[in-house]
Amino acid sequence: MKRRRIGVLTGGGDCAGLNPAIKWVVKTALDDRLQAERGIQCEVIGIHDGWKGLLFDETTQEEYITPLTREMVNTWDRYGGTMLGTTRTNPYEKGKDRSRLVLNNIGKLGLDALVIIGGEDTLGVACKLAREGVNVIGIPKTIDKDLSETDYTLGFDTALNVITEEVDKLRTTAGSHKRIFVLETMGRYAGWLALEGGESAGAYIILIPEYDFSVDKVNELVMEGKAAGARYNIIMAAEGAKPAGGREFVKGEVADDFGHKPLGGIAEYLAEQIRKATGLDSRGIVLGYIQRGGAPSAYDRRMGRYFGIAAVDLVVAEDFGKMVCFKAGKIACCDIQNVVGRLSLVNTETQYDIERYNGRRTIFYRKEEKSKVPADSKRC
Ligand code: F6P
Repeated sequence: MKRRRIGVLTGGGDCAGLNPAIKWVVKTALDDRLQAERGIQCEVIGIHDGWKGLLFDETTQEEYITPLTREMVNTWDRYGGTMLGTTRTNPYEKGKDRSRLVLNNIGKLGLDALVIIGGEDTLGVACKLAREGVNVIGIPKTIDKDLSETDYTLGFDTALNVITEEVDKLRTTAGSHKRIFVLETMGRYAGWLALEGGESAGAYIILIPEYDFSVDKVNELVMEGKAAGARYNIIMAAEGAKPAGGREFVKGEVADDFGHKPLGGIAEYLAEQIRKATGLDSRGIVLGYIQRGGAPSAYDRRMGRYFGIAAVDLVVAEDFGKMVCFKAGKIACCDIQNVVGRLSLVNTETQYDIERYNGRRTIFYRKEEKSKVPADSKRC
């Protein structure tokens, strides 16, 4: 019987869906029937606090390293966040490279494979370690859904549900006071959260980083809505959206280990612009970290499960340097090196209405096509 010791860690911003993925890595790797069938006996080692957990020394090893059992993880899929903890530690940080220590510790722990549940930054580190000979498998997670090569990243669906529920709550007070609310979502440089959150919640205007907006146009649309009888309106603005000719709004100048400055401020800015130009009572509201919180939705639990199982399958097959993904409705895998260095962004030609600053209003119709309903759509 072969023996395999698998490390698992979560890195970057937390979100719902991480615990289901950890649980199913453990349950699959330690499944008696599968182990017998595959002739592999597995151990799973939980690494705490992302890459920071692999920077341990003799005095801190115990704090960061925990063997995981099936019993321990049994109920984890019901909970948000990550039971393993997370940080934005970058072992390859410019001017402070600690990657040798990480490599030594991977050796010290005797890890045959490392399952990394993370977004662009965390998987970027995984990719570098893979080049140094570490057997890595990635699992995509981020509420921003900005990873290339996958149609889904863990945490996104739960965050959309949070946004939709919060907008529902906002509507009653917005209606009572006849206010315009500008709601700022997370998402960094990608507009998926604002766009799909805005579509789910029925926002009147949606502003995304992929299309610079005109403040005048926003004001025109607001006045148009009012003239059409709207008592109030909800504007969804991604934290990375910016006015034409302007820059993203940043909350502070201190960047994290990966060089990202914290974004934020667009909601207040825009609410003030609307107030000044239209005289309407306008307020900015920042949804913030609650988008990352709460119990995972049914979809995140199920996707976490599939991704966790698929990751262990790849370990067993010794098909390393891969990220499990969701592509065209199927769980699949791709080279991790194709994921890092390029974000998946909203296509403003096919997924955004640049006239109304909103989601698309046509699914099959294309302006340049003569027939309004193309042949394949008739089959639906
Ligand atoms: O990447 C996830 C995310 O929530 C972004 O949407 C947001 O800009 C960022 O993390 C916030 O990071 P932090 O947790 O470091 O404040």
